[in-house]
Amino acid sequence: MENTKQASKSFSADAVSETDKHRRPIRSFVLRQGRLSPGQARAVDMLGPQYVLPFKADAVLNMAKIFERDAPTIVEIGFGMGNTTADIAQQLLDKNFIGIEVHTPGVGSLLKMIAERNLTNLRLIQHDAVEVLRDNVTDSSLAGLHIFFPDPWPKKRHHKRRLIQPAFVTLLVQKLQTQGYIHLATDWQPYAEHMLEVLQAEPQLVSTKSTASTASTASDYAARPLYRTESNFERKGLAKGHGVWDLIFIKR
Ligand SMILES: C[S@@+](CC[C@H](N)C(=O)[O-])C[C@H]1O[C@@H](n2cnc3c(N)ncnc32)[C@H](O)[C@@H]1O
Repeated sequence: MENTKQASKSFSADAVSETDKHRRPIRSFVLRQGRLSPGQARAVDMLGPQYVLPFKADAVLNMAKIFERDAPTIVEIGFGMGNTTADIAQQLLDKNFIGIEVHTPGVGSLLKMIAERNLTNLRLIQHDAVEVLRDNVTDSSLAGLHIFFPDPWPKKRHHKRRLIQPAFVTLLVQKLQTQGYIHLATDWQPYAEHMLEVLQAEPQLVSTKSTASTASTASDYAARPLYRTESNFERKGLAKGHGVWDLIFIKR
């Protein structure tokens, strides 16, 4: 598996085109030296080889081979400690899940849950999701994309680090099959408004809340679907009195 050093060279949402590949990247994350518990370290050592897929530049993932079946595949970007990811994979056993995260404690935490819950429909990649999507995922192949509570980067000078940007959303749409969905959630209202603006501006997307005859509006926020259980990050936001906004858009 790619280590922290490899991940730290990664790119952000701004780096999706061929030209951008060669520019100094603006990343959507900062790699912190998070504490790895003994259990997480053990999980990385013992379970990593089985459940963590190595990042390889320009090598497309063969989902049917990886999961040994043909099933719709959903990618989650930035799963954090992975509780929600494990809950969803456990609920939706007929779907394949690929979880992408750069932080090793999160990878160890989710590997532990994979083993504890016997999840056979979930694999992980420890690398920058922008590169993974760009290099490893076949166009028009995904049934869904989940991005829950991406780092809000609240300071104006950091807005360029936000994952949800027009160029990145275009890349997401490119990887979705027709009728595939993007599900975003955030507890930061200005980011929710930005997300809404970016998704509404993407011509290939339509809100699950809109009908053909209605223009996109603020009512394009969706109700939280039952499959999305409360995440660690969400819990902290709620404790601070934040609201939560879900957005679910479908590729035409
Ligand atoms: C604010 S946390 C939310 C984590 C989790 N989704 C939750 O709700 O608890 C955002 C996570 O996204 C990860 N992340 C940010 N940019 C990423 C990228 N480009 N590729 C992979 N992971 C990324 C960060 O490492 C971090 O763990």
